Amino acid sequence: MATPEPVQDSSMLEPSRPRVLLAASGSVAAIKFESLCRVFSEWAEVRAVATKSSLHFVDRSSLPSDVILYTDDDEWSSWKKIGDEVLHIELRKWADIMVIAPLSANTLAKIAGGLCDNLLTCVVRAWDYKKPLFVAPAMNTFMWSNPFTGRHIEIVKQLGIAGPAHHEEAGLRGLWERRDG
Ligand SMILES: Cc1cc2nc3c(=O)[nH]c(=O)nc-3n(C[C@H](O)[C@H](O)[C@H](O)COP(=O)(O)O)c2cc1C
Repeated sequence: MATPEPVQDSSMLEPSRPRVLLAASGSVAAIKFESLCRVFSEWAEVRAVATKSSLHFVDRSSLPSDVILYTDDDEWSSWKKIGDEVLHIELRKWADIMVIAPLSANTLAKIAGGLCDNLLTCVVRAWDYKKPLFVAPAMNTFMWSNPFTGRHIEIVKQLGIAGPAHHEEAGLRGLWERRDG
């Protein structure tokens, strides 16, 4: 008689979920960040990063309980001495995919210029471009039509970041249902 196979934990049979790092910057569209986290959580393991400005729009208490939200404070409070883990490097290693939604004009400009003065931009500056990075710029039409926006979008696309073309203004308006900001 064959020896019975050990019963496998059903959770071991489930395919592992992709790890998505969702990031919000200081566009008024960040009021939708909570919904975004909820939708992604249905099929992915989600961690979140928020810039200081975005916290004016993101209601932290409404985020799904399994989504950890990291801010600039965590970057510094988790590091005490040489040898300690550095949060932006750990997040960059952890994530399979990064999505910055919404992407403010300011953070777009910083990414295009290689600046890294907060947790979000440090993750991007350390990003492994063999892994996908998507951005959803969201800003007032006056900001969007400013010549800087097109230049910055061109640069980030050359880096391998996926996002809308600069002429896709109508699509963006629809995506974020812009009212003001
Ligand atoms: C009420 C309000 C709404 C704003 N909405 C937007 C916006 O939709 N898009 C944008 O790019 N900037 C917007 N801004 C400006 C950004 O918040 C500002 O440039 C900030 O420095 C962005 O910081 P961050 O890129 O580090 O998140 C808004 C500012 C205020 C006060």
